[in-house]
Amino acid sequence: MSILFETVQIKNLTLRNRFIRSATYDGMSDLTGRVTESQLKLVSDLAEGGVGLIISGIMYVHPSGQISSFMNSIADDKLIPGLRKLSEKAHEHGAKIAVQLYHGGREARFVKTRKQLPIAPSVIADDPYYKGSYREITEGEIEEILDAFGQAARRALEAGFDAVQVHGAHGYLFSQFLSPFTNRRSDRWGGSLSNRLRLHRETYRKIRSTVGADYPVLIKLGAEDGFAGGLTLTEGIQASQLLAETGYDAIEISSGVRGEKYDGTEYKTKINKPSREGYFRLWAREIKKSAIVPVIAVGGLKTFTMMEDMIRKREADFIALCRPLISEPDLIRKWERDPKKKPRCVYCNKCLEELHYGIPLHCVTFSKK
Ligand SMILES: Cc1cc2nc3c(=O)[nH]c(=O)nc-3n(C[C@H](O)[C@H](O)[C@H](O)COP(=O)(O)O)c2cc1C
Repeated sequence: MSILFETVQIKNLTLRNRFIRSATYDGMSDLTGRVTESQLKLVSDLAEGGVGLIISGIMYVHPSGQISSFMNSIADDKLIPGLRKLSEKAHEHGAKIAVQLYHGGREARFVKTRKQLPIAPSVIADDPYYKGSYREITEGEIEEILDAFGQAARRALEAGFDAVQVHGAHGYLFSQFLSPFTNRRSDRWGGSLSNRLRLHRETYRKIRSTVGADYPVLIKLGAEDGFAGGLTLTEGIQASQLLAETGYDAIEISSGVRGEKYDGTEYKTKINKPSREGYFRLWAREIKKSAIVPVIAVGGLKTFTMMEDMIRKREADFIALCRPLISEPDLIRKWERDPKKKPRCVYCNKCLEELHYGIPLHCVTFSKK
């Protein structure tokens, strides 16, 4: 049996294999952030399709963190019954499921419709990478958001989810705090790496205090920013060590504050030759060297033998996939039967473009054929 199909653990959670569906926003919630029938179907298909752990799409923990009208909320107890249906769907088919806890920081555009400005650690004048308007978060608001993360994790547990993952990548609130480019604060939330990670560490403590000692608490870390002057990989590696020491139970390695469109960001296109595959592999490998908790690799992972190689060489413990599973939710079962099978996903990012127009997630290229 392939090493990719071994049963493995994250803390006390046993997964049937090493495949994780990386968090994927699906634009399918209703306008109140509730779980819909389409989402139940999506999770059912993925679980039936063989994936070990499904990480939900972004769910906002506090209204100030909402980025889209069609994203799920986990900011209110009223949402628990719907969320419970989602976790039950995964379990019916032998998969585990985690909620991705999210705050968009300055990118939380949706709050503007409520005539409020999004919040961020600092306001950066003439930022070439971000043009939206936003304001500096106060210490009081930071405390409120920490509480919101704790309460959201409690709801995930109550709704039957097996774990939570804090979204600490892709330029959102946690990336904004970690990056020396977007965090210019001179109080205890800015400056040294340890201070820029205070939000991540205090969030962990809040979550741990609401979910108890045994519940897996994961983080997706943006280990490097996409431009000079941002977070470097050297600091990203140190950050991963500090997060593991804090107690996070597994770390998924992705990118931080965005630079140029697509290239240098989390969803690169043109994964059409081996040298384009696994574009964050090097970062995972460097982080894994000193890691005391499991490392999850993500980003253009396409070929079965390459993924096996990464696990055998101890470059990562888990393989996370997003776009290939949008196109083929049953890809893992197909690989079980035929490891030589190539994913049909062409990494065109049309799924993402249509989401931006409010069209629910689907594989655009293949659904037309
Ligand atoms: C349609 C779409 C939605 C995504 N939604 C999320 C999300 O909700 N949270 C997150 O952390 N990353 C999200 N990502 C990034 C993926 O989780 C993943 O890190 C990235 O696509 C690279 O993996 P892949 O090459 O297997 O697609 C999304 C990507 C796509 C294409």
